[in-house]
Amino acid sequence: MIFDFNLIRNVYAGLPRKVQEAKRVLNRPLTLTEKILFSHLSPGIPVKDYLRGGDYVDFAPDRVAMQDATAQMALLQLMNAGRSSVAVPSTVHCDHLIQAYKDARADLQTANVTNREVYEFLREVSDKYGIGFWEPGAGIIHQVVLENYAFPGGMMIGTDSHTPNAGGLGMLAIGVGGADAVDVMAGLPWELKMPRLIGVKLTGRLSGWAAPKDVILKLAGILTVKGGTNAVIEYFGEGTETFSATGKGTICNMGAEVGATTSVFPFDEKSASYLEATGRKEVASLARSIVGHLRPDPEAVASPHDYYDRVIEIDLSTLEPYINGPFTPDAAYPISQFARMVEENDYPRKMEVGLIGSCTNSSYEDLTRAVSVVKQAKEDGVGVNAQFIINPGSEQIRYTAERDGILAEFEEAGAVIMANACGPCIGQWKRDDAGGQRPNSIVTSFNRNFAKRNDGNPNTHAFVASPELVAALTIAGDLRFNPLTDTLENDKGQHVRLAEPSGYETPPGGYDVQEAGYRAPSPDGHNKEIIIDPASKRLQKLAPFPAWDGNDFERLPLLIKVKGKCTTDHISMAGPWLRFRGHLDNISDNMLIGAVNAFNNQTNAVRDPETGEYLAVPQLARKLKSQGLGSVVVAEENYGEGSSREHAAMEPRHLAVKVILVKSFARIHETNLKKQGMLALTFADKDDYDKIREDDKISVRGLNRFVPGVNLTVELLHADGSTDAFEAVHTYNKQQIEWFKAGSALNAMGKKSKV
Ligand code: F3S
Repeated sequence: MIFDFNLIRNVYAGLPRKVQEAKRVLNRPLTLTEKILFSHLSPGIPVKDYLRGGDYVDFAPDRVAMQDATAQMALLQLMNAGRSSVAVPSTVHCDHLIQAYKDARADLQTANVTNREVYEFLREVSDKYGIGFWEPGAGIIHQVVLENYAFPGGMMIGTDSHTPNAGGLGMLAIGVGGADAVDVMAGLPWELKMPRLIGVKLTGRLSGWAAPKDVILKLAGILTVKGGTNAVIEYFGEGTETFSATGKGTICNMGAEVGATTSVFPFDEKSASYLEATGRKEVASLARSIVGHLRPDPEAVASPHDYYDRVIEIDLSTLEPYINGPFTPDAAYPISQFARMVEENDYPRKMEVGLIGSCTNSSYEDLTRAVSVVKQAKEDGVGVNAQFIINPGSEQIRYTAERDGILAEFEEAGAVIMANACGPCIGQWKRDDAGGQRPNSIVTSFNRNFAKRNDGNPNTHAFVASPELVAALTIAGDLRFNPLTDTLENDKGQHVRLAEPSGYETPPGGYDVQEAGYRAPSPDGHNKEIIIDPASKRLQKLAPFPAWDGNDFERLPLLIKVKGKCTTDHISMAGPWLRFRGHLDNISDNMLIGAVNAFNNQTNAVRDPETGEYLAVPQLARKLKSQGLGSVVVAEENYGEGSSREHAAMEPRHLAVKVILVKSFARIHETNLKKQGMLALTFADKDDYDKIREDDKISVRGLNRFVPGVNLTVELLHADGSTDAFEAVHTYNKQQIEWFKAGSALNAMGKKSKV
């Protein structure tokens, strides 16, 4: 048995009482999010009306999931936490490190050779600490979690920003950095800023070409990439009951694209049938027995404006299919306007590659709806006019789809079936024809489309859409094709229109799998000794970061003033760098190499204050570090949006960056910086960003009186001898200030356990 039924039984045994207690204390009806949060308060933490978006509260999540790229650093940190086994059920999933090139079989073989050392490390450490291990090829973390571990009313954290995918089954699932995962695996309370609540009321029913993906694509356009920051998006209304649990997973998954803490759907009969179809009948019937606690209270949804901080209504019956992009997931266009937008912006019209997969859209239902489009095109004599790539979400989906003839249909249409892994979604795509900087267009069923994310080419215009729309555009080979209104020419010269897609929410013949790829920890695993070769290029033992020396930061040189978007992809690029995720020193050579320098509009070219020469960002940081100087990074809005990767926080820390000063932070990244002992500050007045000059020396004053809620002072000494001073805001609470002083949260944890 892969899932731990006892865990769920225990959670459900206490949940009704805890929810009732919260309702009694707060004396009001509750939203679903509140029910889950209040039933997961850390022991000793009282129920009260915490300030949403303000108060930090300690929680006790039920599980932890880690993907292979982030698990390396999380487990390296766990090894320093002084535990013999994990305190809550945890799993590792090998999905990010498999490069998509030829096909599933060949790519998996290659991955097992090139990543052997890392897989072995993850396997051994998992075994030692009692962590479940999913082998390479077993599937993408969030699909595997949805199929095996997610349960309504549960709470989990995962070291991946699309962990909220499990919200499709009513679980509050939150993406975090590895250091947070270590806290929970070490049995410590897990701290979260009490989220605001965005209620999304769904009415009506999807029809025709519209898919669950279109709900979130539309919402991304409304909320933008920052609109969900510090908020949980909770869906309610009769429309929620009209589509599948995996469709709900898709919507929750992409809540990460609007910066939401997480997203969640109420438990309903669709959730129950998915639980049953995935071998968890007992969970479905237990959930049914406490259904009132796994849904928002009726009074809350009847007057949503009284219970949610913001309410958005979407009528599914009138929802058009959307295509979002390029370069940002919140550029949302209904299909009826998309062709005009392509022409107006002169985007490359030829649709070159259609990709279906990723944790967002790789379910059995996704594959069946997409293949229905492919099948009828074949029947109508219409060929496929672009390259086609499919990544199934899990081995269970792949095996079942193969059994049901779905993969054969795709292959007949020229599609390549890649491994059950992330692949092109995270730059793990060896695209022979990408042609360096050649402008081109691709459409994916993925979630993110930042420049370079898929194939490393900054001029690849990546658009995201539902799998069925990806299939239609791949068949058409033209980005401007609208299957709702346009026709395609068939082999007889006739003009035919593609019929609406259809599919199965779960396989009519049931799911099946021969070898799921799961490896349970062995009973004597704790005796294992973990050896890391000091000469390894992929893995490096972590040395604790130095503690704060007790002084203000004085006259630090500016490392880079970043202009515009700076995601964690810009700070710590993925693709080829994924192989160094377990080696902090080596991966630090990618630090901020994708960020644009505000002074010369170039990437990876910053001025050495000593010589005036332009150096690569990591090169200058290493030089300043070797001189014992440290440095400062300045940036604009939503710094660190995107993936939860903590390397984006650890690399600057390792290369002696002392302060990150920005107009605003993305939530996960700000916490990651704090965990690593960095000083993360925001401009009190955003216009002060303009005062920073290339040759400034920057001081931060007030650290000796570093307390919650009191601003710090930044002083600039310009090269001409003039100065500027302004206030910088911080969001550190008492505990986080201790992390800063100790040098990192892990150091602070170590200190506590020594006391
Ligand atoms: Fe993997 Fe892409 Fe999801 S990297 S976990 S498929 S967002």
